[in-house]
Amino acid sequence: TDTHGQGPFIAAIDQGTTSSRCIVFDRDGRIVSVDQKEHEQIFPKPGWVEHDAMEIWTNVQEVVAGAVEKAGITAADVKAIGITNQRETTLLWDKNTGRPVYNAIVWQDTRTDALCKELGRNVGQDRFRRETGLPLASYFSGPKVRWLLDNVEGLREKAEAGDILFGTMDSWVIWNLTGGVDGGVHVTDVTNASRTMLMNLRTLAWDERILSSMEIPAAVLPEIRSSAEVYGTAKGGALAGVPVASALGDQQAALFGQTCYDKGEAKSTYGTGTFMLMNTGDEPVQSYNGLLTTVGYRIGDQKPVYALEGSIAVTGSLVQWMRDQMGLIKSAAEIETLASSVEDNGGAYFVPAFSGLFAPYWRSDARGVIAGLTRYVTKAHIARAVLEATAWQTREITDAMTKDSGVELTALKVDGGMTSNNLLMQTLSDFLDAPVVRPMVAETTCLGAAYAAGLAVGFWPDTDALRANWRRAAEWTPRMDADTRDREYKNWLKAVERTMGWID
Ligand code: G3P
Repeated sequence: TDTHGQGPFIAAIDQGTTSSRCIVFDRDGRIVSVDQKEHEQIFPKPGWVEHDAMEIWTNVQEVVAGAVEKAGITAADVKAIGITNQRETTLLWDKNTGRPVYNAIVWQDTRTDALCKELGRNVGQDRFRRETGLPLASYFSGPKVRWLLDNVEGLREKAEAGDILFGTMDSWVIWNLTGGVDGGVHVTDVTNASRTMLMNLRTLAWDERILSSMEIPAAVLPEIRSSAEVYGTAKGGALAGVPVASALGDQQAALFGQTCYDKGEAKSTYGTGTFMLMNTGDEPVQSYNGLLTTVGYRIGDQKPVYALEGSIAVTGSLVQWMRDQMGLIKSAAEIETLASSVEDNGGAYFVPAFSGLFAPYWRSDARGVIAGLTRYVTKAHIARAVLEATAWQTREITDAMTKDSGVELTALKVDGGMTSNNLLMQTLSDFLDAPVVRPMVAETTCLGAAYAAGLAVGFWPDTDALRANWRRAAEWTPRMDADTRDREYKNWLKAVERTMGWID
């Protein structure tokens, strides 16, 4: 780009569900270079999803080196490193050897179903909702930690003795970046901690009562810090000597990168899953419609900003499934061509409840269905149903947001990989009956991490300076008539009902 070589810069690392990437940004929030690497998705049993954390760490080091090289810069040109990550994915490792004790258990994994049911048996799914903002579900880290302690031979004793560290991917990356066994810092930020089900939303500290009812020893836990502050300095690697200055869960980072700094502002990110977050200001808002209450971000020692979140487990990963498991398309981009070859879904509806259903249902017992099949349906209709699934699930979330917040949706700010799919964006606007807008930098996750790191080291003065960088790139407006929309929505909801109660 035209700013190439004119530093200084900020580097952001995004440790995501399917890949790790590093992006170098300039002061205008423009992308200078990108490097990215996919890692293996391990599916040992139905409902189980794991990652090899060593592979992830190796990839992170490679993409950092790659992005620095592509930008034609050195560590001296980089003022800070920001971290963002797939949330909830849970790892325990040995602090003396630096080796994971088991694969990372991914957020999509449903193995803790029964455990969650058992934890909620007498008091129900909302047992920890008041403290944590979350319903009891296999999605969150706490139950995954408990599963590891119960199922990995000898682990509980070692954990109690203080030899084992727990972390989501932010902690794992920061610990390794800052030296690992050789003095690595063991921290997490408030946004990531708010997804463990172990942090109290108001005190922003680990909740002792929850820890003891989940039987998790405090010795494994990282220190909870703000989202934008210097945690330590990178030791070794392409960015040796650069301060590590932010950490945010990827969805909160996207909220930050989309510059949703005012109460009522919202964004929706289309990645492996889809996550809509609305800034609710400095008080946590309790949801009565199946949304989560979560921490949006916290800059330095300022007050935390909270958010309401609608989480959808499967959107982009359904397209990947069509490609990798079904072989119906060769590339993810082909889904649009295939779906565009037909006028409509031919009567078919696809509810991808592969990880149960997240918001607004929170049903771990749901599994995927394709409904409405007749001999007429072709793979093109299924492709269309796949895209519509993403749009309907978003509609259900926006309905819940409207009910909880009382704010009518005037436009939806979107970002993420799937937003390059025009048919999907048009369908989304049709189903929501509202405009859909995408900013110039669709990589808002990395951008948000870079912004937070830049604020921490004074690279940007304040959030007003960041807002000035937001520029609209594309907009879609509704074209569907109300009768069609209403009929289709009803059919979708009928299909959703068919997914529930599949697992006892
Ligand atoms: O909560 C899971 C989320 O953080 C994963 O995001 O972009 O990998 O689908 P993504």
